[in-house]
Amino acid sequence: MKGFIQEQLTRNAYQAERLLTILQAIQAEFHVISEEAISLVTEGLKIERTQIISVVEFYSFLHLTPRGEYDILISDSITDHMLGKQSLMAYLSEQLAVDVGAVRADGLVSLDNTSCSGMCDQGPAGLVNGHTLTQLTLPRIDAIVQLVNAKTPLAEWPSEFFVVTDNVQKTDFLLTSDIEQGSALNTAFQRGLTATLEELDLSGLRGRGGAGFTTAMKWKFCAAEQSDMHYVVCNADEGEPGTFKDRVLLNTHAHQVFEGMTLCAAIIGAEKGFLYLRGEYLYLQDALETVLEERHANGLLGKNILQQGLDFDIEIRLGAGAYICGEESALIESLEGKRGIPRNRPPYPVVSGYLNKPTLVNNVETFLAAAKIAVTGGAAFKALGTEQSAGTKILSICGDCAHPGIYELPFGVTVREVLELCGADEVLGVQVGGPSGTFISYEELDRKIAFEDLSTGGSFIIFNKTRDIFAIAKNFTHFFAHESCGFCTPCRVGTSLLKKQFDKIVDGHGSAGDVKALEELCDLVTQYSHCGLGQTAANPIIHTLKRFPALYQAQLKNISYEPGFDLDASLEVARQLSGREDTHAHLAQVGDE
Ligand SMILES: Cc1cc2nc3c(=O)[nH]c(=O)nc-3n(C[C@H](O)[C@H](O)[C@H](O)COP(=O)(O)O)c2cc1C
Ligand code: SF4
Repeated sequence: MKGFIQEQLTRNAYQAERLLTILQAIQAEFHVISEEAISLVTEGLKIERTQIISVVEFYSFLHLTPRGEYDILISDSITDHMLGKQSLMAYLSEQLAVDVGAVRADGLVSLDNTSCSGMCDQGPAGLVNGHTLTQLTLPRIDAIVQLVNAKTPLAEWPSEFFVVTDNVQKTDFLLTSDIEQGSALNTAFQRGLTATLEELDLSGLRGRGGAGFTTAMKWKFCAAEQSDMHYVVCNADEGEPGTFKDRVLLNTHAHQVFEGMTLCAAIIGAEKGFLYLRGEYLYLQDALETVLEERHANGLLGKNILQQGLDFDIEIRLGAGAYICGEESALIESLEGKRGIPRNRPPYPVVSGYLNKPTLVNNVETFLAAAKIAVTGGAAFKALGTEQSAGTKILSICGDCAHPGIYELPFGVTVREVLELCGADEVLGVQVGGPSGTFISYEELDRKIAFEDLSTGGSFIIFNKTRDIFAIAKNFTHFFAHESCGFCTPCRVGTSLLKKQFDKIVDGHGSAGDVKALEELCDLVTQYSHCGLGQTAANPIIHTLKRFPALYQAQLKNISYEPGFDLDASLEVARQLSGREDTHAHLAQVGDE
């Protein structure tokens, strides 16, 4: 162990910021971060032992107690559930003779759930020792059990178990034609960097990670900061359940994403960039490193890029199973080798980010779009979409539809049009923007995908009328309770109470006043939480409660809502029994919000 850890420390230049990378290597090699490993790292990095322990405890892919030689995690996204995940998990647990959450007595295998693994278009999915498994079926589970029990090395497992398909279904401005390598940088240098930033401004591009901040303005703020170092960070954490477009963009357009980052570096004056790749996308890492090498070889990274005096390099860092690390300040903490706890803002990362230097964080799709805009100019992009939401949006569509996958569509497209394109019918509702986004009912299908109406980082999950609204809201509510980073009380305690209170009602143990109490709890968590996770954690309950209040009331009276029933009829029964006359009027009204 000593030799291995010394090698990792040397490879990582004994930098404390690389603690997470070092711990990931140790976990992969020994299936545990042991006391001995902690002592060696403490000594090597000159940091406190307690700091290492707190980091290990924070990330779900690191462990203080040994995992099995084969550590199997099954994705717990609602789409995995819809594809039969629960029965597959029960079967896998039985066949492997190991409980969920446990390590088998012989230490060979461990089994657990993991939050959405980004494969919602090809689930049920999972991970074995960090490597993605897709399209799990009973025969595949049987084969996996045999491979594990025979101690077959992962490299000898059938390659089809690990195949990830891109499922690109519809392309538009960004994806229909690719830009040539180097063309965004060449055009920008010819046009001038200031003029290129003006083109970006003209394009109206807004951040694609969810919040929609104007990209050019963010770049201008960061460029205006006086500092000896600036950093560019590409946020590829993509942890919002139902989102998988960044996975596809990095597999198909990595050059263009890296070109967007390099363009940004030229404009804001950065020398160093990071791609923060979610740990679940480990399978992409080698190919991405190859793209970086190619760009070096082609003079598009490194010293004096395109002989323009620009020095810039990009490093890939892997996340370790924490949804909160998608939040930009938590991501920066994670890059510094710490727990991913969101910082107080202001100061914003553009002023004080990585190592307290000005840092520009953008989503994968934002960098991709910026590179294209540098080539085409801003007007072509601005001509698409709506007044407030220029351009196209890349959606990850999954759930109940014939053709799940990636769809690039102009902003302003209605949900109904999207549903027609992907072959969805008998729709009960759509979760737009993931669990933190908006649940809309079948009465709101003319609403638009746009920042001014339904904003989304890309997640678009479709539920048909056989689905159970409570199962959906439950999955999302449990997700937030699991992913809360625990830093602030309203979210740490609040998400856990939300889970309990929601389950109590849905399981039929609620009494008069419990729905009201649930609403009050939702308000509290939303208003007093420190960051976006807590501020949106109650959305699944708030949105379903607003649209289907009678269903919640009916639970209090032990009237079970049977999925698969005609929803209108069941609403009518619930309305009569709960005494509410306004169920449908209420649904129509919330549709306008
Ligand atoms: C809990 C939480 C998770 C987030 N996850 C992501 C993510 O996975 N990818 C992303 O680009 N932005 C994510 N964001 C938004 C980022 O904080 C940030 O706004 C974004 O990366 C900025 O890039 P953009 O301007 O290009 O959108 C998340 C925010 C929160 C509050
Ligand atoms: S709101 Fe939740 S995730 Fe955000 S800082 Fe507080 S505990 Fe952490």
